[in-house]
Amino acid sequence: MAYDVDPGVAAALAAFRPPERLGFGQVAAPVMYDVHYADGAWGRGRLLPYGPIEILPGARALQYAELVFEGLKAYRVGQPWPNLFRPADNCARLARSAERLAMPPVPEALFLEALDAVAGALAPFVPDRSGQALYLRPFLFGTESGYLLRNSTTFRFMVIANPVEAYASGAIRVAIERHDVRAAPGGVGHAKAAANYAPSLRASSAALARGCTIALWLDAHEHRYLQELSGMNLFAVVDGELLTPTLDGAILPGITRDSLIRLARHRGHAVHERAIELGALLGQIASGACSELFACGTAAIVAPIAALVEADGREHVPRVVDGVAAELREALLAIQERRAPDPFGWTRDVARPAPAG
Ligand code: COI
Repeated sequence: MAYDVDPGVAAALAAFRPPERLGFGQVAAPVMYDVHYADGAWGRGRLLPYGPIEILPGARALQYAELVFEGLKAYRVGQPWPNLFRPADNCARLARSAERLAMPPVPEALFLEALDAVAGALAPFVPDRSGQALYLRPFLFGTESGYLLRNSTTFRFMVIANPVEAYASGAIRVAIERHDVRAAPGGVGHAKAAANYAPSLRASSAALARGCTIALWLDAHEHRYLQELSGMNLFAVVDGELLTPTLDGAILPGITRDSLIRLARHRGHAVHERAIELGALLGQIASGACSELFACGTAAIVAPIAALVEADGREHVPRVVDGVAAELREALLAIQERRAPDPFGWTRDVARPAPAG
C-alpha cells in the first residue's frame, strides 16, 4: 500500500450510520484521502477520518480560487464490491483543468490510489439501490500563502465522498439566466475550476427561490446561445434527433455528456453537437418540433426538464417529459451499475485493499 492509514479510520468507519434520506452531498462519508505536493513532487498519501483541515488563511486556494475538482461515483447495485465509471477520464480532465490554472497534474496512479483508498474503505456504505451511489469529490488546490499573482508552489490533493441520491428527483424546472455570465471562451469555463461555480451561485440561488432547480447559461457575448446548466450539460430532442451545444471553450466537457452521445448513437439515435440559439429553440418548443429537453451530469445522471422558466414567470414547456431521457438514463445507469453489458469498457472495479503485512 502506497499510502498510510490513520489509526482513527477504523473507529470513524465503525461509528458511521448513514441516514435513510441521503440527498446530494448532505451526508459526509467518514473518511478522506489527503496528499501534499512540495518541492516539485507528490508526497505519501494518507487515509484519514473525515474532518476539518488546516489551511493558512492566505492560501491561494482561498484568496484566488486556485482550486480544480472532479466528480465521479462508485456503484454497488446487486454486487458485493463497488465499481467506478470512467475514472481515468476524470483524471485526464483534472489534468486539463490543472493545466489551465498552471497547477501540477495529479498522476493517474495517485488519482486512482486515492479513489480506491476512499471507495474501498467505504465499500459497505456504497448504497446498493439503483440511482444511488457513493459520490467521490477529488480536488486539487494551492496551499501557499501570499498575494503575489503567481501560482502556489505547494499544493494538496484530497478526495472526500458522500453517499448520494441523484442531484434532483423527477423532472426539473430550469431558470433561463439572461443577465449574469458564467464563463467566456478563453476563460476557465471548460475546466472544472471552482472559479466557474462562484459566479453561477447568485443565479442558482435565485433559480431556487423561483421554484427552479438550476439556471441555464447563455453565451457571454450575445446572450443568445445555450451553454450549459450550472453543473449539468443539456440536450434537446428536435425533430426526433438529439442536439447538444458544441463545446465552445466555455462549456464543461461532461463525461456523462460524452457517454450519452456515444450511447445514444450506439442505440441508433442521431446526435448532433451544434450551436443552439435560444430564440430558435423556444420557437421549436412552441411548435412542438422540440419535443423534449433534458440535463445530464454525474450528479444529475439524466434529469428530464419540465420547463424553461423566464424571470417574469413565463414557462416554455416541452410536450414530452422523460421520453428519450428515460431511455438513456436507464441505459446509462444499467452500464454504470453493471446490470447490463458494458460494450464501451467504461466500468472498473474499485481495487481491493492489499492484505496488511
Ligand atoms: C458533478 O456532476 O459531478 C458536478 O460536479 C456537479 C456539481 C457541481 C453538483
